[in-house]
Amino acid sequence: MKTTISKVSQHVNEEVTMGAWLSNKRSSGKIAFLQLRDGTGFIQGVVVKAEVSEEVFNLAKSLTQESSVYVSGIVVEDTRSPFGYELQVRNIELIHEAVDFPITPKEHGTEFLMDHRHLWLRSKRQHAVMKIRNEIIRASYEFFNKEDFIKIDPPILTGSAAEGTTELFHTQYFDQEAYLSQSGQLYMEAAAMAFGKVFSFGPTFRAEKSKTRRHLIEFWMIEPEMAFMEHEESLEVQEQYVSFLAQSVVNNCGLELSVLERDVEKLKSIQAPFPRITYDEAIDLLKEKGFDDIAWGEDFGAPHETAIAESFDKPVFITHYPKDIKAFYMKPDPNNENVVLCADLIAPEGYGEIIGGSQRIDDLDLMKQRYEEHNLSGDAYQWYLELRQYGSVPHAGFGLGLERTVAWFSGVEHVRETIPFPRLLNRLYP
Ligand code: 4AD
Ligand code: MG
Repeated sequence: MKTTISKVSQHVNEEVTMGAWLSNKRSSGKIAFLQLRDGTGFIQGVVVKAEVSEEVFNLAKSLTQESSVYVSGIVVEDTRSPFGYELQVRNIELIHEAVDFPITPKEHGTEFLMDHRHLWLRSKRQHAVMKIRNEIIRASYEFFNKEDFIKIDPPILTGSAAEGTTELFHTQYFDQEAYLSQSGQLYMEAAAMAFGKVFSFGPTFRAEKSKTRRHLIEFWMIEPEMAFMEHEESLEVQEQYVSFLAQSVVNNCGLELSVLERDVEKLKSIQAPFPRITYDEAIDLLKEKGFDDIAWGEDFGAPHETAIAESFDKPVFITHYPKDIKAFYMKPDPNNENVVLCADLIAPEGYGEIIGGSQRIDDLDLMKQRYEEHNLSGDAYQWYLELRQYGSVPHAGFGLGLERTVAWFSGVEHVRETIPFPRLLNRLYP
């Protein structure tokens, strides 16, 4: 019976065949332990000299790392292995012999690993991180589908800037200039006016000259947008959503979290509601913590966010930022026109801002005024304003950065390990 490692639990004490690669090996005179992987998981194959032909035993002993094989054997339960099963090998058929696989089980430097990202992805650790990424994507669709959102795909090639003009990637669109999308938001606002509750999931691009552990040039965002929705209500959706993601990862990625040695208790405690502090309170908190140089009106950097997050064991919303440091479309607070109805959600443990969101300006004249103040032009000017012309409603939305969320749940230091092929300031290869 042909199977995959993910399904061996259905074949205990049966003989199965699977395609696999050899990730590591130990052997002595009479026994060989093969660490096998097939993409769905990892399993140990045990080859006992007395139980296989001489040819098969010799092949097992000489197999090189990353060679591909068809392997047959009996699935047995094994309480000592974290996976719970092992394969008592009966036969091995070599498909392809790999010679000198560059990523050996010893330690390698980051640049070397990044240059070999196409091969590094095969490691147990990268497998665990990508499975967690996959779970966050799956759970996002589940969450928004159960809440009656519909998935809408905004364009990637656009004629307008959503998040300011300095970080745009320019490209030629026949005889016109175009940009790669920084955020689907403006289009998602149009979609919310058509479909009520919508979400998108797609790649976004920022020509940011940042070389930090939280910044990618190309990253993926989940962007919900909701009609008839005020700022406070949007925060409730956000905390429900992030809690749902955390619990989904805890429930469905136990093996992966243990491979990554993640402290699961920290993730279990991610349950709504989340604390909320205003920007003003955040400034006070920073001053108390000895950040004397921060003044009202300045944006927070990574050290500020980390210091604020340290005061909470759940993610914390920082709300009501000064309007001058936030995007043009954010709605001013009716009680204080200098601040806007927005929130950044800061993850605990130093993983930084994972969500940026706000209530949007719904008044046509105010939106026109903002366009002028921000010297904005471009394609969206007309159509985006028209959304405020025909049945304008209070609406709000947010964007969750997938890679930062993966980094946080996985407990990996740097976002470069949270996307299959990271695009970084100095890296377009592989
Ligand atoms: O705060 P940002 O810029 O918000 C927006 O783009 C809004 N238009 C979203 C919306 O309301 N629909 O980005 C949202 C999130 C950030 O909180 C962060 O998690 C992530 O996207 N992000 C990045 N992730 C990796 N690398 C970068 N360079 C990122 N820039 C933002
Ligand atoms: Mg932001």
